Amino acid sequence: MNQEYHQSLENSIREMESKGTLKRLRYLQSPMDARVRMEGKGEIIILSSNNYLGLSNHPQVIQAGREALQHYGAGTASVRFICGTFSIHRELEQKLASFMGSEAALSYVSCWNANTGAIPVLVGEGDVIISDELNHASIIDGVRLSRARRLIYKHADMEELEERLKSCQDAGTRLIVTDGVFSMEGDLAPLQRIVELARAYDAVTLVDDSHGTGVMGRGGRGVAEHFGVLGQVDVITGTLGKALGGAAGGFVASSSQVIELLTQSSRPQIFSNALPATIAASALKAVEVLEGNSSLVKKLHDNAEYLRAGLRERGFHPLDAPSAIIPILVGETSFAIRMSEKLLDEGIFVTGFGYPVVPEGKARLRVQSSAALERADIDQALEAFSKVGTEVGLL
Ligand SMILES: Cc1ncc(COP(=O)(O)O)c(C=O)c1O
Repeated sequence: MNQEYHQSLENSIREMESKGTLKRLRYLQSPMDARVRMEGKGEIIILSSNNYLGLSNHPQVIQAGREALQHYGAGTASVRFICGTFSIHRELEQKLASFMGSEAALSYVSCWNANTGAIPVLVGEGDVIISDELNHASIIDGVRLSRARRLIYKHADMEELEERLKSCQDAGTRLIVTDGVFSMEGDLAPLQRIVELARAYDAVTLVDDSHGTGVMGRGGRGVAEHFGVLGQVDVITGTLGKALGGAAGGFVASSSQVIELLTQSSRPQIFSNALPATIAASALKAVEVLEGNSSLVKKLHDNAEYLRAGLRERGFHPLDAPSAIIPILVGETSFAIRMSEKLLDEGIFVTGFGYPVVPEGKARLRVQSSAALERADIDQALEAFSKVGTEVGLL
């Protein structure tokens, strides 16, 4: 062991600790739900999970995973094209394609994997990627892995996007990439306009709808459904690790040509194992449960509205957005972390996000709605917000 090296890492960690920005893992001892048991804290209410539809602990979703484990065993012990594909992968992919209104879909072990695995296949040397400045880290890394030139436009600024498109008309493929729902703001990409601009300037669109899948649109088909442009976005990526069961997994939904090319050339597809069958089966069931019960999406949004209104009534100023993400800006990272810890002492789990996840000085508490929450859970959480907000001098 190189002691000096490890000591230098220790110094960096202690520096984070002294600045109050060190993140601490919280260990849960029961399934993800409205209320969970947390080690050292007892029962707490969760307002910081992406378990938007409450399907993480749904009996049918659990049962589907259990049956797949019995049926397929632990895994394939191989990458997909060698001998690593189960029929449940095809079933899941066909279901995702029909749910997303696309010709075909391909699963990945995560949406991180999907974004970093797909973008370098879709565009390369001589092409241009035009990317929203607030895109998720996995898009940014996917863009970095591609050999295409990068252009950034100001967040959701359609005039600047148009300028960027004009500036690269001589390039090969122009790929516009954006989050559907922005994870730290909760706002939406103006997808109707993006689709219009893509048409006008002969560009291709990729939307990462990880926080929109299962959340936006009446049927939970995402931001494209919300804006009435389902089937008009070239490539949609999404996660199975949030609304759709919450275990892990990601997907790309697109034309049959894109999916075939990814199957042939996307590096995680050809150098790494597939999604475990248990997760594929649970995610498939989660989509089926959602398709059979759109009142889940409604309950999620009713709860989000109730949370937003309750926070405002108590003197907070959450950012206004139509998604299930309700950020409250509080300033410094250490302040956000301290407030989050105080809320946890009151039995409410809300994560504080600071630099480098969000810009310096724009730290926030990110409250998230879920269909798993009942009004009593939300009322209790709002009371805790009032108490902690007063204690820290925010109210
Ligand atoms: C917009 C966005 N894309 C991708 C991801 C990564 O998803 P996964 O956990 O499936 O890798 C996240 C997760 O936080 C996300 O918010």
